[in-house]
Amino acid sequence: MDRLSTPEAAREYVLSARGKGQRVGIVPTMGALHQGHLSLVAESQKHCDVTIATIFVNPTQFAPHEDLQKYPRTLEQDCELLQSQGAAAVFVPESSMIYPPGFSTYVQPPAVAAPLEGEFRPDHFRGVATIVMKLFQILPATHAYFGRKDYQQLKVIEAMVRDLNVGIDVVACDTVREPDGLALSSRNRYLDPEQRQIALQISRTLQNTQRRVQAGERDVETLQHQMHRELLGDGDAAESVDKIDYATIVDADSLAPIRQIDGPAVALIAAFVGPTRLIDNLLL
Ligand code: PAJ
Repeated sequence: MDRLSTPEAAREYVLSARGKGQRVGIVPTMGALHQGHLSLVAESQKHCDVTIATIFVNPTQFAPHEDLQKYPRTLEQDCELLQSQGAAAVFVPESSMIYPPGFSTYVQPPAVAAPLEGEFRPDHFRGVATIVMKLFQILPATHAYFGRKDYQQLKVIEAMVRDLNVGIDVVACDTVREPDGLALSSRNRYLDPEQRQIALQISRTLQNTQRRVQAGERDVETLQHQMHRELLGDGDAAESVDKIDYATIVDADSLAPIRQIDGPAVALIAAFVGPTRLIDNLLL
């Protein structure tokens, strides 16, 4: 597997493959790779001739009080995983190459960035849109792979690609979960065994919500009320998350609020277990 460390080398690598008519898939990540990330690589491998992963813990998408400093960094292990998955190359830039002194141009994210995460992490999607746009410029691939685990992020990137005429096909991939339902996340490493047990309430709540909808419940207020109750452990403090940022059901495309489920909808949760903020979602 080739290790690319400069934007120039990365661009050359992609252009050379494209010159041979090859399909090039990119998988942007922040490292601390797990089977969720590797499923994106596998998906790219199925459809593309060349797969390039990127590893960059992007400072502009973290607020000053967030976990940028302690975000897990496991580069050597990540490279081994990528190689065993068959990735052709990994792009691992230095921060100073991505944000050199004097950097001042940002992507204004689309409207779909405003609710949910946008309310609780105000500049987050500006940072995400900016780094993803930069990666699309550095690596002019044919395809780019993103997980539904970060559902709103996926919608932001799809809208950005549409609005700014980016010639890359965005491919959405399903969420990979532990056998007990917990969505894989680099941040799961922060959880101790007790917290991990509580974190399970998040995926359980989503599954129960989906079941209720399948059983015929259509009223969003009723469903959301039940989601909050379950996340708070139905009154049992030992099974309760520590704080709910949101537990909501919205239109699956616009992420706008809805009152009734009469089309594609998605249930999304952001909650704290101890100091760790976890997100998950399920299409209904
Ligand atoms: P990161 O959290 O490392 O995630 C990289 C990609 O892996 C994203 O597309 C994310 O949705 C996907 N992913 C994470 N957990 C997953 C799971 N359990 N199942 C399937 N896919 C999963 O998302 C980011 O990094 C950053 O915001 C980035 C897009 C790289 C920009 O910095």
